[in-house]
Amino acid sequence: MTTRKPPLAFWIALGVLTCVAHETAHAGDARARADYMIHCQGCHVPDGSGLAGKVPDLRASLPLLLSVEGGRSFLVQVPGSSMSALSDARLAATLNWMVRNFTDLATDQKFNAYTEAEIENMRRLRLEDVLATRNALIEHLEPDNGRPTE
Ligand code: HEC
Repeated sequence: MTTRKPPLAFWIALGVLTCVAHETAHAGDARARADYMIHCQGCHVPDGSGLAGKVPDLRASLPLLLSVEGGRSFLVQVPGSSMSALSDARLAATLNWMVRNFTDLATDQKFNAYTEAEIENMRRLRLEDVLATRNALIEHLEPDNGRPTE
């Protein structure tokens, strides 16, 4: 008579593997969310709305900056991003998480996720004057092109 042990072990192993695969799929998102909470949220606050007059509202500024040439790299080169303790891969994941959670760009398929290699390249360049660069980028926009009205 054959024992039932091997088949049972097989099903348990299959169950465990299925769980692991499921967890791995969600681990990237959970880690990016945690990285945002630990490294960014202190200034940018949980919903990205920032602090009036001090920290920009990312819900408005991310779509705005991503719509102009140079904006994509600017998001990586601001001190909050470039000087963070995050590795290139984790900064890419955190920025992608921010765009997905604070804007509609990803749902509307108007955003290509940052890659680790892209972050590595962009991060090398230090901005001389962050606010001047930011103002110059936003000046590229026509007044009716989504500029916030405050
Ligand atoms: C000490 C406060 C602070 C922390 C912490 C911080 N930021 Fe920022 N962030 C700012 C300010 C202020 C700006 C506006 C530009 C500037 O002055 O650097 C900004 C701008 C940005 C921008 C460009 C959006 C815009 O409207 O200019 C991005 C993207 C960004 N931060 C990402 C991050 C990420 C990612 C983290 C965490 C890894 C982070 N920041 C942590 C204060 C902070």
